[in-house]
Amino acid sequence: MLPQEFIRAKRDGKPLDPAEIAAFIGGFEGERVTEGQVAAFAMAVFFNGLARDETVALTLAMRDSGDVLDWSGIGRPIVDKHSTGGVGDNVSLMLAPIVAACGGAVPMISGRGLGHTGGTLDKMESIPGYSVTPDNALFRKVTDEIGCAIIGQTGRLAPADKRFYGIRDVTATVESIPLITASILSKKLAAGLQGLVLDVKSGSGAFMGTEAEARALAESLVAVANGAGLKTTALLTGMDEALASDAGNAVEVRNAVRFLTGEHRDPRLQAVTLTLAGEMLALVGLAESREEGLAKATTALSDGRAAEIFGRMVHALGGPSDFVEKMDAHLPKAELVRDIVADEGGVIAAVDTRALGLAVVALGGGRTRPQDPVDHAVGLTRIAGLGTELSKGDVICSVHARSDADFEKAEAFVRGAYRFGAAPTERPAVIARFEA
Ligand code: URA
Repeated sequence: MLPQEFIRAKRDGKPLDPAEIAAFIGGFEGERVTEGQVAAFAMAVFFNGLARDETVALTLAMRDSGDVLDWSGIGRPIVDKHSTGGVGDNVSLMLAPIVAACGGAVPMISGRGLGHTGGTLDKMESIPGYSVTPDNALFRKVTDEIGCAIIGQTGRLAPADKRFYGIRDVTATVESIPLITASILSKKLAAGLQGLVLDVKSGSGAFMGTEAEARALAESLVAVANGAGLKTTALLTGMDEALASDAGNAVEVRNAVRFLTGEHRDPRLQAVTLTLAGEMLALVGLAESREEGLAKATTALSDGRAAEIFGRMVHALGGPSDFVEKMDAHLPKAELVRDIVADEGGVIAAVDTRALGLAVVALGGGRTRPQDPVDHAVGLTRIAGLGTELSKGDVICSVHARSDADFEKAEAFVRGAYRFGAAPTERPAVIARFEA
């Protein structure tokens, strides 16, 4: 079928055949399907949607546009987590070693931050020497022998998604649930996983702002992933405030190491991390039930095995051998650390989490264009959470900045992010679970 006839069918709301979908995506190679045709198809889907079987076919076609990783010979179940992204969301740094300590293999292919949300790769690159682009042999060896490796996109995983996403980004067609579903899952399927747990965020700092949108995305992801043969469940978690009490790059790595060693654990972060770990262990048969998975994960955290695995992974990928013990000597620091304090007393009634993420971007810790560099040292720490009662002069957060001017830019975002008033009704950290 000609690309224009295929686009016309979607434009007119007619069903698409899986073979036609595969042929259209196959035409991305060598740009036989033009940029204009990709954009027109994206807009037709934006308005008319895709049926579940069409979304499965699109996901599989995008997976098959490149390599699919082969983990045969690794004697552990291959399992990963994907989060739709948030602020102060350093869960991956603790989750991967916890699951590895319980017998899973977690080849965690992560992304960089864009806009107000942080990226795991930027955080890991705060560690001197750590390489997020090891060759395939080292990636495999670390995943096999240590149990987890947090790295960047390798080889040619779902190249059709890269082209499709680039075109969607500039044609106002990103916000389509079937297109988001196929985009996320094509990359996860190409990673050769046996199990996937999704952390879909809802709230002021989330990609899907409303709970209804986040639920719809979670349902679509779970149905399509299972339809494409990947065992998947999803949790809906709250992003109405920063998840960790720190947001930035090095400051979130420090938060993660303190979490792993037991020096400090933010309660909501702990709830999300351990619930995801329990879910992952149960999904791939490393625990009989979620409850048993949660208990195993909790033990691997409290007996120090997860911290030890994190330290070994960091060293195996080029970081210092004593990183966990001496992180303060290794992590970059900003020249200026100054508190933002409350002008008057009150209870924190609402937090615009997105604005906190934008404060980190204003400091240089995030990026607004994919090609921008990030400053690993800057960020926010001691971020006050929802429901906290502050007196005049109490700390709202500490700003780690390069200059007074940067501090002032961040302060404007932070002050604008907080609303004082009646204590909000508490939402649990983990709001809902979705399964096939
Ligand atoms: N993240 C992705 O990987 N793809 C999308 O389409 C949206 C978010």
